[in-house]
Amino acid sequence: MATATQAAKYQPKQLQLRDGRQVSVRKMTPEDKSAILEFARSLPEEDLLFLRTDITDPSVVDAWIENLRKGNTVTLLAEGADLIAGYASAHRDEARWTRRVGEVRINAATGYRGAGLGRALAAEIFEVARSLGLKKMAAMMTQDQTGARTAFERLGFTVEAMLTEWVEDRRGHPRDLLVMSYDVAGFNDQATTSPAQSEDTRRV
Ligand SMILES: CC(C)(COP(=O)(O)OP(=O)(O)OC[C@H]1O[C@@H](n2cnc3c(N)ncnc32)[C@H](O)[C@@H]1OP(=O)(O)O)[C@@H](O)C(=O)NCCC(=O)NCCS
Repeated sequence: MATATQAAKYQPKQLQLRDGRQVSVRKMTPEDKSAILEFARSLPEEDLLFLRTDITDPSVVDAWIENLRKGNTVTLLAEGADLIAGYASAHRDEARWTRRVGEVRINAATGYRGAGLGRALAAEIFEVARSLGLKKMAAMMTQDQTGARTAFERLGFTVEAMLTEWVEDRRGHPRDLLVMSYDVAGFNDQATTSPAQSEDTRRV
């Protein structure tokens, strides 16, 4: 298995979305801090309410960047014409007995939803996860996030558990946590079935 200090390799690429727009995908670096904060602050209040960590807070983004440095997190950024269109992260913790399971987070800017970006980013981050030796990816969301749940089910995730009043939203209200998983080591890989358009540009 790859070690945490071993950096995940990712060859930047162009993806063509279903509506014809192109995005470039590359690994996030510490220099992306202000762009991430700008992206986070552009998200609707409803999304922010349910974010797993408050990425509008610079200290939270600093901790994220620290995880990138340590190799515990790999984030792929999709950039549109002027700003971040979305990102996907794979997070792992090799010190834990759940080290075979990584956590995936996907976030698309509202103007980019429904065009295949989430699916494309999932496919890309799963490739990274596999290269890190991860077997399963977990996605966590509150039970109220019905759109995200349906989207992840469409990507091939299944529900593993529902934990009652496990998390608090930004307003301090308790919420049920839904844990979903996807078998990246398996053969029923629904998220990565988009046909390759060319070596460097894929249509999703
Ligand atoms: C969940 C999310 C990443 C999906 O991104 P997206 O770019 O809109 O997704 P796609 O366009 O690639 O759609 C993927 C599939 O999910 C379905 N889908 C996407 N959003 C959906 C919604 N709100 N309701 C129902 N289905 C939805 C699509 O129809 C598609 O299915 P198909 O390809 O089989 O037709 C995006 O809505 C988002 O960023 N949400 C906020 C963050 C979040 O909750 N993340 C999940 C926890 S990590």
